[in-house]
Amino acid sequence: MKSVVILISGRGSNLQAMVEAGLPVAAVISNRADAAGLEYAAGRGIATAIVPHRDFATRDAFDAALARAIDSFRPDLVALAGFMRIFTEGFVLRYQGRMLNIHPSLLPAFAGLDTHARALAAGVKLHGCTVHFVTPQLDHGPIVIQAAVPVLAHDDEVGLAARVLAQEHRIYPQAARWFLDGKLVIESGVARVKGDHPQQVFAP
Ligand code: GRF
Repeated sequence: MKSVVILISGRGSNLQAMVEAGLPVAAVISNRADAAGLEYAAGRGIATAIVPHRDFATRDAFDAALARAIDSFRPDLVALAGFMRIFTEGFVLRYQGRMLNIHPSLLPAFAGLDTHARALAAGVKLHGCTVHFVTPQLDHGPIVIQAAVPVLAHDDEVGLAARVLAQEHRIYPQAARWFLDGKLVIESGVARVKGDHPQQVFAP
């Protein structure tokens, strides 16, 4: 059976959404022992592993250990879900075409951190989230699906983040399912889904 390994660093609400969507999660791996999502996964009988980045002197050594941990589960898909480490190019290339990430903005706007605060400061009227394939350039790979969320007149960072997160929980399981079903194709750097499936969601 096809499977996904999910990498987390914290809360793990996207991991939870994937499990609840019935995706075949082979394991959850974290670079932090205190990531709350590990407890959730263990409670569901899902294998967990910790690869603490502080135990490694170099990024290369950490990424090599992480790759060994991932590969031991032989997943078809690697899903980054709030994994807060930047990878070496070698690591990204090893999983290119089979590693997805969820980013809390409408890429290519607001790559990087603090996306909600930056969206509010910029005064954009639409914000949202993006699932994309991971490529060596941070937050820039082929876009699989996006959800657009209106920015309301009196939004603050907390409220906006919560409404975007609700959409993350909708689009990430969908993207992972498409991948595992062999429905995603990348042509000239653009990800498309086979069949009649919209790659955008408009949140109320
Ligand atoms: C999400 O906002 C995701 O978009 C970002 O990190 C956060 C992870 O949240 N990459 P969770 O750990 O899945 O709850």
